[in-house]
Amino acid sequence: MKKTEKRKYDHVRICVEKNVRAEHNYWDDVHFIHQALPEIDYDNISTHVEIFGKKLSYPLVISGMTGGYEEAKKINENLAIAAERFKIGLGLGSMRPLLEDSNTLETYSVVNDYNIPLLMGNIGAPQIVGERIDDIISLCRDLKMGVLAVHFNYAQEIVQLEGDRHVGGVLEAISELAGKIAVVAKETGSGIVKDVAEKFVSAGVGGIDVGGMSGTSFTAVEYYRAHENGDYVRAEIGKNLWNWGIPTPVCVIDCRDLGVPLIATGGIRCGLDVARAISLGAAVGGVAGELLKFALKSAGAVIEKTLTILTELKAVMFLTSAKSVVELGRKKVIITGRLREWLEGYYGKDLWERVLRER
Ligand SMILES: Cc1cc2nc3c(=O)[nH]c(=O)nc-3n(C[C@H](O)[C@H](O)[C@H](O)COP(=O)(O)O)c2cc1C
Repeated sequence: MKKTEKRKYDHVRICVEKNVRAEHNYWDDVHFIHQALPEIDYDNISTHVEIFGKKLSYPLVISGMTGGYEEAKKINENLAIAAERFKIGLGLGSMRPLLEDSNTLETYSVVNDYNIPLLMGNIGAPQIVGERIDDIISLCRDLKMGVLAVHFNYAQEIVQLEGDRHVGGVLEAISELAGKIAVVAKETGSGIVKDVAEKFVSAGVGGIDVGGMSGTSFTAVEYYRAHENGDYVRAEIGKNLWNWGIPTPVCVIDCRDLGVPLIATGGIRCGLDVARAISLGAAVGGVAGELLKFALKSAGAVIEKTLTILTELKAVMFLTSAKSVVELGRKKVIITGRLREWLEGYYGKDLWERVLRER
């Protein structure tokens, strides 16, 4: 196994074997107001959304996880079968292994056997600088990716022994890419707030996956990898930065008025979490880690878990009297606990409630 492929394998293995979750899931601090009389029939609820010009039956995407080594093919296929079944979006993991070795193609292209409304390619920010833009675009074309997610994961890169910390030229490269394909700027667990998102939007991105803190922590994943490799310096940094980042709900609230659709990935576990993300301003929720162990098992297992998420989302829409996703986005929510403290700290004690109300 090549170095990059082994790393992708390690990430999946560690994510299912160890606890790599952020210590607190900030979605738990978002509460709906129950409607005893929903005033809509459950069967009349519409869960459809449109994003990047594609129609999804539910406001959910499976966020990019893997590709590039043998087992990844099965994982991507199992996810693809569920994405086709429910007509939701699907992201691939980083295509870096494919840029380095064309023999890994099938571990990605397997998703092309399925009819999925939105497919997203994926590449790391440091990899888009230089000569590679044309190669990346042609990979996206070959794999029929309507959108390319460029991921920013510098917290992970800084803990990772072989991490790529190259930043210079990234915005210019995004601009060039955005002239050729719809680009989503994506964090992987540390979050994006407005001032950074504005730079991406100015560079031409068509959407932001805020990728905030609350779920899978890649500094935690790299903590385990460093430990296994006897690198105790990086292990300690990974441990101390385990909860590094901006809670996903804060990112959604902060970025929601930029005029581009938001994907809320980071800590989404269930349909209630997807509904919470929509209510704060996301266009769709993104789920990764929660589906991984099912994807390793079988397509049927992913289908069952996804069905649970989507049925629960519709249940929350019913109980909040939201007959469409747009209506769900207008529902008032109550913020408590640590998320409230974060918002007070970020916007100021007097301002945060106004920010929440203003849409
Ligand atoms: C095993 C694994 C591999 C991942 N690989 C990638 C990747 O290659 N590119 C990327 O942008 N994000 C990657 N992610 C990050 C996810 O897309 C997502 O942003 C992150 O896990 C937070 O979502 P979660 O809390 O639902 O897991 C990966 C996640 C997991 C669990």
